[in-house]
Amino acid sequence: MATIADIKEELSKVIYPGFQKSIVDFGFVKDIQVDADDACTILLDITSSAEDVASKLEEDISKVLGSIGVTNVNLKISKPEAPKQQSNSVSGSNIAPQIKNFVMVSSGKGGVGKSTTTVNLAIAAAMQGKKVGILDADIYGPNIPRMMGLNGLEVEVVGNKAKPFNAFGISVMSMGSLMEEGQSLIWRGAMIMKAIQQLLRDILWEDLDILFIDMPPGTGDAQLTLAQSVPVTCGINVTTPQHVALDDSRRSLDMFQKLHIPIGGIIENMSGFICPECNAESDIFGQGTCEDLADQYNTEVLGLLPIEPAIREGGDGGKPVVYFQPESESAKRYMKAAEKLISFVDEHAGKAENASIQPTTGPGESACSTSGAAAASKSEQKQESSSGGCGTGCGCH
Ligand SMILES: Nc1ncnc2c1ncn2[C@@H]1O[C@H](COP(=O)(O)OP(=O)(O)O)[C@@H](O)[C@H]1O
Ligand SMILES: [Mg+2]
Repeated sequence: MATIADIKEELSKVIYPGFQKSIVDFGFVKDIQVDADDACTILLDITSSAEDVASKLEEDISKVLGSIGVTNVNLKISKPEAPKQQSNSVSGSNIAPQIKNFVMVSSGKGGVGKSTTTVNLAIAAAMQGKKVGILDADIYGPNIPRMMGLNGLEVEVVGNKAKPFNAFGISVMSMGSLMEEGQSLIWRGAMIMKAIQQLLRDILWEDLDILFIDMPPGTGDAQLTLAQSVPVTCGINVTTPQHVALDDSRRSLDMFQKLHIPIGGIIENMSGFICPECNAESDIFGQGTCEDLADQYNTEVLGLLPIEPAIREGGDGGKPVVYFQPESESAKRYMKAAEKLISFVDEHAGKAENASIQPTTGPGESACSTSGAAAASKSEQKQESSSGGCGTGCGCH
């Protein structure tokens, strides 16, 4: 006869649709009861109201439990109410209302040029007249300060809020500027959620047209928390053209769909190589492979960015190529990509909503954190410098 532990182990193989973690890892499994040899009752508390999410979970759960002889599953799924109607106004949560649009920059994995793209697209958008900010939410590898020439600068605190830096006409705040240099933390679900919310709420962001958010690679707590906290106008995906990278990108794009985030486009980075000697362009990782991906997700390729030494030098030296070498081929492509993105954002401004992905649990319970977060939360609180909970009921108290 299957025990609760056996059932939980099987449930830990069920991936939450659109993400890489299981429903157990996310803390969505609230109760398991064994009713008979072949029967059990499971209570799930998920964060999406989408019908396809619930039906996929039902299917996957009955498959894994069937494999251990539990064929009679009474599955109770609690989920947020679907929004009554899609309107043009924001519904749901917005903890940074002075910011008109949020653009989530994602990638399937690290090292594909997500931060480089964020910096150059943001500057290009500012050069085209938008009031722009960059939030470096990549808690695992916050590289924006170096790329924007802000490395090692001390954050100014006004009252109990931190003031963003200003570089190239852009407001910038990075997790890297808030952590001790070289300090590494083992980020757990509840801490990630709290950090993301503080980066939005406890930073003195001014009125902005667009806040570009450099996310950690992959799909997890940070993405879910951001989407629940502010209405994300669109997500863009940065990828390199090799097929293995495209497979990872697909997961990011699936996640946007599951979170009802409009897809603003794909940046194909490291697409061909421009020789600094002769300006000839050669194909290294492949080129143009993102077109098919864009078609599949009903979006467009915003730009093909070549491998160009000037891009890397600009990143390492805090001198972004789009600003310092506007005549370069890369700068021109970033400008064109930003133009396309701006028109997408303008078209979708004010239409984003996140009511259907709000956490459903009450204060003190985790809706989306790593399982075991409750047990760990005491020690986490000691590590965190904050003054109490975030008040959203997402388990970070
Ligand atoms: N198109 C490019 N040409 C040359 N170097 C690049 C290009 N894009 C990114 N790089 C370099 O590759 C490295 C990884 O890029 P980065 O933006 O940090 O990736 P991610 O944020 O995805 O981890 C950095 O050193 C960056 O300067
Ligand atoms: Mg990065």
